[in-house]
Amino acid sequence: MAAITARTRLGVLISGRGSNLQALIDAGAAVDYPAAPVLVISNRPEAQGLARAAAAGIRTRVIAHGSYPDRGRFEAALTEALDEAGVELVCLAGFMRLLTAAFVTRWRDRLINIHPSLLPAFKGLDTHAQALAAGVKFTGCTVHFVRPDMDSGPIILQAAVPVRQDDSEESLAARVLAAEHRSYPLAVRWIAEGRVRLAGERVLVEGALVQPPSTINPWTD
Ligand code: GAR
Repeated sequence: MAAITARTRLGVLISGRGSNLQALIDAGAAVDYPAAPVLVISNRPEAQGLARAAAAGIRTRVIAHGSYPDRGRFEAALTEALDEAGVELVCLAGFMRLLTAAFVTRWRDRLINIHPSLLPAFKGLDTHAQALAAGVKFTGCTVHFVRPDMDSGPIILQAAVPVRQDDSEESLAARVLAAEHRSYPLAVRWIAEGRVRLAGERVLVEGALVQPPSTINPWTD
């Protein structure tokens, strides 16, 4: 995939807390980071992330899905705002609306998402409850290009997080979130540096580090 421009203009779509947005803002504050958010859009006026963006001097827009007669017109408003701000890469960061195939196609390979599980396991909501119920020994997070099916698309990177025997949803969520905050800026950096290439639906990252041998995580009886 071709490199985007020197400092890639990010549009970040949020619905709530905005801690992943904050990770991108913090990364973008470093002079040698090749991307920065230029526009934050929330579909909810009360999203905490809006205040984070405003505090960092980033333009914000509330585009409330309820104010539009249908999904198509809601998404047309999103695209218009993103285009107007010259956004090159759209980052979904806790954006809790399903997007239509038309929107996903319009932004194909320029639209990424972070999801709190090791996809394709545990799509949808309550990922940590799903992981605990399944008894998996590792979960984590995934940064991926968005395709029309929910929580699907070429995987750019995954971070594995061990599940502890005594984890609650909250304790597990906190450790996965810390991994998310490292992962999202890293994936965005790679894209902005033009190092990310699609080979079919598999993602190859030029010069990515070879991973250490896998970790084994049993629980005891
Ligand atoms: C994050 O854990 C993100 O991975 C998840 O919502 C949270 C948003 O937190 N996204 C999804 O579940 C999307 N399917 P944040 O607002 O603090 O970044």
